[in-house]
Amino acid sequence: MNTKKILVAFFSRTGENYAVGRIEQGNTHIVAEMIASATGGTLFRIEPATPYPDDYRACTEVAQREKRSKARPALVGDIAAEEYDVIFLGYPNWWGDLPMCVYTFLEQHDWQGKVVIPFCTHEGSGLSDTENRLRTTCRGASVLNGLAVRGSVAQNERETARKQVLEWLKRLKY
Ligand SMILES: Cc1cc2nc3c(=O)[nH]c(=O)nc-3n(C[C@H](O)[C@H](O)[C@H](O)COP(=O)(O)O)c2cc1C
Repeated sequence: MNTKKILVAFFSRTGENYAVGRIEQGNTHIVAEMIASATGGTLFRIEPATPYPDDYRACTEVAQREKRSKARPALVGDIAAEEYDVIFLGYPNWWGDLPMCVYTFLEQHDWQGKVVIPFCTHEGSGLSDTENRLRTTCRGASVLNGLAVRGSVAQNERETARKQVLEWLKRLKY
């Protein structure tokens, strides 16, 4: 029995996206729900105050500009991550990095003593170097190796994605 308090915090985008067309639930959101339901963790959505463009190409341009300028877009809402022991952190791979709004969330919390477990969705790049970026950003946390799931698999082959998620959780003993 795992008695640790678990948070599943994620950012995910709806609208038009690469490889999946127009979607009503983001790929990372789907994986986040699988993790929350398997672990009993609390689901929290990281939400930028200004939504990213619905149009895929326009979104890639905004995301690239934000990355170049190391932007920290304002968020709507927050959660006391400090009250949790284990934080599963989910995000799409954007230009080989975390979306800048995820850094906004991370930089407004104290990660000392926490276990941070990354998961991302992507269309070929996997996690890129995001685990190491998290190790730098979440000072004092133990950042475990993450899970990368193809966004189009999460969206269109849910049972395949669920199997990957459950096997990974089992290896982590959750
Ligand atoms: C702005 C932007 C940048 C992206 N950059 C990459 C990338 O560098 N590598 C990659 O594999 N996929 C990239 N993708 C694809 C996403 O990682 C993939 O579609 C992901 O599943 C989206 O998750 P979401 O639906 O939760 O937002 C990018 C998508 C967007 C919108």
